[in-house]
Amino acid sequence: MLDRLNKRPNDLSAFWMPFTANRQFKQAPRMLVAAKDMHYTAEDGRKIMDGTSGLWCVNAGHCRPKITEAIQQQAAELDYAPAFQMGHPIVFEFANRLAAMAPEGMDHVFFTNSGSESVDTALKIALAYHRVKGNGSRFRLIGRERGYHGVNFGGISVGGIVTNRKMFGTLLTGVDHLQHTHLPGKNAFTRGEPEHGGDLADELERIVTLHDASTVAAVIVEPVAGSTGVLIPPKGYLKRLREICDKHGILLIFDEVITGFGRLGAPFAADYFGVVPDIMTTAKGVTNGVIPMGAVFVRKEIHDAFMNGPEHLIEFFHGYTYSGNPIACAAGLATLDTYQEEGLLTRASELADHWADGLHSLKGEPHVIDIRNIGLVGAIELEGIAGEPTKRAFSAFIKAFERGLLIRTTGDIIALSPPLIITKGQIDELIDHVREVLRMID
Ligand SMILES: Cc1ncc(COP(=O)(O)O)c(C=O)c1O
Repeated sequence: MLDRLNKRPNDLSAFWMPFTANRQFKQAPRMLVAAKDMHYTAEDGRKIMDGTSGLWCVNAGHCRPKITEAIQQQAAELDYAPAFQMGHPIVFEFANRLAAMAPEGMDHVFFTNSGSESVDTALKIALAYHRVKGNGSRFRLIGRERGYHGVNFGGISVGGIVTNRKMFGTLLTGVDHLQHTHLPGKNAFTRGEPEHGGDLADELERIVTLHDASTVAAVIVEPVAGSTGVLIPPKGYLKRLREICDKHGILLIFDEVITGFGRLGAPFAADYFGVVPDIMTTAKGVTNGVIPMGAVFVRKEIHDAFMNGPEHLIEFFHGYTYSGNPIACAAGLATLDTYQEEGLLTRASELADHWADGLHSLKGEPHVIDIRNIGLVGAIELEGIAGEPTKRAFSAFIKAFERGLLIRTTGDIIALSPPLIITKGQIDELIDHVREVLRMID
């Protein structure tokens, strides 16, 4: 039963919460009951500024009327239609719109329901592509330490976050990892792309030599690693990865689940860095986070390689019941309209300097050992409490929520990624909140 007054159910036990300290939460729940634009409303009526776009997804802010109306209309008109051997118009329209805004040459889109599914889809496309081209010996996948590629088996195999991997057995075989690019000793407090570490891309040559290029299918990286605590690629790093992949016929996959749809001030990180991958995974901002959806973009040559053999046969044995769900497509189209009408896909570039100034003004505050920024993303790394990793950042998270700001923490890092509609005044307010919190915690 729901208590209609404070909207809190009288029993919180059934819901096993994802990526949550369940027992701690259920003793002192933090409930959000409504949202509008830059703010949530907590169950006690307090306004909470959203410093993290929900989970890096609500790029246009909350409860945007155009998106809400599109969902309502679509639900009343065509609620669900299968996408296996059947079609409905809106999914083709949405794919066309996405392909038109994607980096040059990435003109085919495969729909999924989440970032994790986009990643596993991309890995499967890469493996199958080599096979249909007659290169079935290319089965190895290369990820990177500290990479986050969702929670499915493919994603955690190429991912590099120990806690997300260690419980789950042997994972995929044939996977290797690049070193991460986080070099606090050399790059601490850098604004934007760090100077040091571009040469870490050369490690790919070493890995490829070890396994032989003829066994390597694809390399997957986040252009900016988000969930592991905002690791900005060092200057030249991504270009070098592209060169090495080209040299050896290896596909380059960018996981743009966070960086896609304007987070850096360009539609995609591929645009921002001027490096175009072969496959690009997206989710989150594709529907402004409102309806679950993911989209995998592939280059024409990859898609076309599958369009072979008898025409009555299925070319790629993969897909989800909800691939291209009509309501998700309606939300996605209205999201793209909102982004375009309000210039949100490039707005982060206009705010980036103000954002960076605010973040870096926190240097010297208690516990702060590094600050990183790019586009409308920021990280404040705290010195962990000896023997109690994550505790300091978690208490910052609690204090921030009490003060009316939603932040995200990972390890002892505070990660910030506000909706792209944020104003300069709201950036100042957000930074002031964080400053106060840093001064309050032990
Ligand atoms: C880079 C990246 N890939 C994949 C995912 C997984 O997305 P989802 O949680 O929608 O499965 C995330 C989620 O944060 C992400 O940041």
